[in-house]
Amino acid sequence: MGIISSDISKAVELLNANEVVAIPTETVYGLAASIYSEEAIRKIFEIKQRPLFNPLIVHIHSPEQLPLISTEIPEKAKVLAKKFWPGPLTMILKKKENISDLLTGGKDTVAVRVPDHPIALELLRSLAFPLAAPSANPFNRISPSKSVHVQEYFKDSIQLVLEGGECKRGIESTIVGFENEKVILYRLGSLSVEELEAAIGKIEIKNKKTENPQAPGMLAKHYSPRTKLILTNNWKESLKEHSHQKVGLLLFKDHAQEQKAHETITLSAAGDLKEAASKLYSALHELDSLDLELIIAERLPDNDLGRSINDRLERAAS
Ligand code: TXA
Ligand code: MG
Repeated sequence: MGIISSDISKAVELLNANEVVAIPTETVYGLAASIYSEEAIRKIFEIKQRPLFNPLIVHIHSPEQLPLISTEIPEKAKVLAKKFWPGPLTMILKKKENISDLLTGGKDTVAVRVPDHPIALELLRSLAFPLAAPSANPFNRISPSKSVHVQEYFKDSIQLVLEGGECKRGIESTIVGFENEKVILYRLGSLSVEELEAAIGKIEIKNKKTENPQAPGMLAKHYSPRTKLILTNNWKESLKEHSHQKVGLLLFKDHAQEQKAHETITLSAAGDLKEAASKLYSALHELDSLDLELIIAERLPDNDLGRSINDRLERAAS
């Protein structure tokens, strides 16, 4: 027997007992604990080996729970919540006093979202508290888009991965904050810049790759496979250059040419960005398990979700 189960009541029991449970969301699996249990939150940091300055995201089941987290909600945040929740949008808000500093990395702000996943929502409705949850991967590693990814990472240190199928979005939520009435994007994610701007007008993007980031998901090196990865506009050229090596090829769409790579994964044969996003992490998990010397990844078009996928691949390559 593994630790993967569909038993929501078991998850409720563990979370009520200050334990950590892996949960499905529409973006990636999360490692969840009660926001009111510092003991359980501490376990999240330990299990993930995550530095304490890197804050967690609070998951609530509906905007009606927002007053538990923050009482200063900018007008634009209300508009965005109405439009995109449940969904892959995380908002940074001024935190309420009783929200633990451990959860927020000592910041006076807190990250919050309503996940768009039936099992996550049912679980949240069965609990007397919201859940703090970062992605369920060890620090710096590839995020999990399937329950087995989580089991492989943490089998000895957690008791339950709640089964929710393959995450339909497949990359993390988009993170925005509010500075002087302006919407600032801190992390590219499953909700595209185009969709956000259609709802709220022009936004400012501070998605820099840095060593000392606003949102540590922005660390230059992140989301990394163990295998060396290069991101290129010209994979044929790269493949030629590395012909003496055991290479895995990660292509955006079908090129129908003969490839001499050891393994090739195509994210979307039809070139659909949404499909490509949903397959990105399982493709990286798979290529990383093959003992390759190198992964050559094809750069995607830099619009819509292509931009978010390129962001992850750049960090994986860094
Ligand atoms: O899609 C997602 O967002 C997934 C699922 C599980 O919800 N969660 C996720 O969590 O990606 P995590 O911990 O891997 O990323 C959370 C990001 C980090 O980059 C963190 O620095 C940022 O959110 N963050 C959290 N609180 C913040 C705050 N108060 N100010 C700025 N950034 C914050
Ligand atoms: Mg993460």
